[in-house]
Amino acid sequence: ELLLTKGYEVYGVSRRSTRENKNMMNSEIHQRFNHVTMDVTDASGIPALIKDVQPDEYYNLAAMSHVGQSFKEPNTTLMIDGYAVSCALEGIRIYAPNCKFYQASTSELYGKVDEGESLNEQSPFRPRSPYAAAKLYAHNMVSVYRDSYNMHASCGILFNHESERRGLNFVTRKITNGVARVKCGIDRHVSLGNIDAIRDWGHAKDYVEGMWMMLQQESPDDYVLATGKTASVRDALEYVCDLADLDFKNVYKINEKFMRPADVPYLCGDSSKAQRVLGWEPQHDWKSLLSAMYKHDLTAAGREVYTYR
Ligand code: GDD
Repeated sequence: ELLLTKGYEVYGVSRRSTRENKNMMNSEIHQRFNHVTMDVTDASGIPALIKDVQPDEYYNLAAMSHVGQSFKEPNTTLMIDGYAVSCALEGIRIYAPNCKFYQASTSELYGKVDEGESLNEQSPFRPRSPYAAAKLYAHNMVSVYRDSYNMHASCGILFNHESERRGLNFVTRKITNGVARVKCGIDRHVSLGNIDAIRDWGHAKDYVEGMWMMLQQESPDDYVLATGKTASVRDALEYVCDLADLDFKNVYKINEKFMRPADVPYLCGDSSKAQRVLGWEPQHDWKSLLSAMYKHDLTAAGREVYTYR
């Protein structure tokens, strides 16, 4: 959507599915949006598409993006989050060498971090999940292609970024949607895993601007995008329960099912390089983000109650 508002002709790829892809549908009404049915792990399909479209910019946001699920599907995760990135880089190298490439790297790369540490582009990566290990392969391949073939390929090391469109099985949306449903009397609890985890949550709208800015630079590079402010899952739950005028202690239940074999306990980013070089600055913090998400989910829950009453 950001690219469409900037006047780009956009090609968006999604797998064939018997169900429609709702996020894609938001763009499909636009004349300059072209939906392509393609699996990013197809080693010949993606290069053929690159040859055909001759893109100026390629944003690789495709991923098996759920860290918890990656423990259950380590090999699929590797194919989508690692191998598919090689396919795209090779396709660009061969068929569109002037195309600029953006890779969605992640704060999960840092893994086990001491509380209080602020993470930047120089901080070491110690992956703690199949997701992070696959993403580290992709991150390294981007720098290999940049150095070997002089490609304009950049990685955004993005800390958690959310919005009203966040999937219902990620913790922020689970909280805003879950609390809204408790408030409306649809559900009795929200079931959660590790509520001690601490994250640096920002708004996806701010982060896509940063991605675009990276590709407008003369030279490719890697950048951290983060707000620099942290909250625990418990803080997030308590804040949304306050908005709903509910006592958080009565709203949640811990369910072992949502615990990960290894979790990343603490993440806080230092985006000073992006601020200095790109002029990027986030407009939202975790509270304004969660209140916008809660407002959206409360409206939807209210509509559900009204419809089925
Ligand atoms: N999903 C989920 N569900 N997480 C829970 C729950 C729960 O019921 N209860 C506690 N958590 C904890 C997780 O253990 C984790 O520590 C934290 O909440 C955040 O989990 P997610 O919202 O699933 O996000 P993530 O931090 O693992 O990963 C997201 O952000 C990364 C950085 O940008 C994903 O979007 C990744 O794809 C992305 O790379």
